[in-house]
Amino acid sequence: MIEFLQVSASYDGEMAVLHDVSFTISDGEFVAFVGTNGAGKSTTMRLMNGLLKPTSGEVLIDGVATTKLKTSELARKMGFLFQNPDRQICCNTVREELLFGFQALGEADAQAHMRVDEIIARFGFNPDDEPYLLNRGTRQLLALASIIVLEPPVIILDEPTTGLDYRECEKVMEVVRELNENGTTVVMVCHDMEVVGDFANRVIAMTQGRKVADGKTFEVLRDDEVLKAAHILPPQITEISMILERDIAQLPEPIAKAHTLEQMVEAVVSAPGKRR
Ligand SMILES: Nc1ncnc2c1ncn2[C@@H]1O[C@H](COP(=O)(O)OP(=O)(O)OP(=O)(O)O)[C@@H](O)[C@H]1O
Ligand SMILES: [Mg+2]
Repeated sequence: MIEFLQVSASYDGEMAVLHDVSFTISDGEFVAFVGTNGAGKSTTMRLMNGLLKPTSGEVLIDGVATTKLKTSELARKMGFLFQNPDRQICCNTVREELLFGFQALGEADAQAHMRVDEIIARFGFNPDDEPYLLNRGTRQLLALASIIVLEPPVIILDEPTTGLDYRECEKVMEVVRELNENGTTVVMVCHDMEVVGDFANRVIAMTQGRKVADGKTFEVLRDDEVLKAAHILPPQITEISMILERDIAQLPEPIAKAHTLEQMVEAVVSAPGKRR
């Protein structure tokens, strides 16, 4: 469980970039953080994995403050995928990269080598490939694989799909979905509301260092006030349902009563005048 209790944070010790943020994330949840640039999403992630300490308030992981946990203890509890995977990749081969986390924890034993082999097979990596020569999508998958090979109960993903094409994005997110279905808690920062709508069960929206909404994905993403405050465009499917719901009373009867898409198209085509 991850708890933020009235957390404020600052990088220079003077100007607060996070103000009084509180939330609780239970084991097994899939939570997306959304909001404008500079809203404090990455800062929140850094506080979660102990890279940054709060200036006031507390961040508790399974009931223990991050200030009291050792870096290695935090690394065991949560895997962290940086906003840019190239900040994460540091070894000469894919195999070394996947072993790196175990080495850092002093646990590169036979079992670790076995886990690395499993992950290589599962992702279809070539263990001798040079990470920097891989394409962007495969580098992102490698960065993700190097985290999940350690089997942390929580993974934190900062913009896991940025810069990926549709197929690469699907590949990364399917891995994440499978992890979550098998019990891993997923906390993800994401600008792409289609991805958020498809994968996250809960959304926390932030603006200017403050939490402005926290709830079920489909509720937050259809709340006009929240969307405006956090400068978010909802996923297309949510937008369509919002337009329909808002306008349903004014729709010509054949359209409002349509039960299937075909009936609706038929009614729209034969309706007089044009609607949005
Ligand atoms: N290393 C840093 N040193 C000083 N200030 C920083 C640092 N990183 C972020 N900030 C500032 O903290 C505030 C919150 O930034 P943060 O990176 O958490 O936002 P974000 O929501 O992740 O934005 P983005 O969507 O652009 O990634 C911003 O005003 C930013 O300029
Ligand atoms: Mg960020």
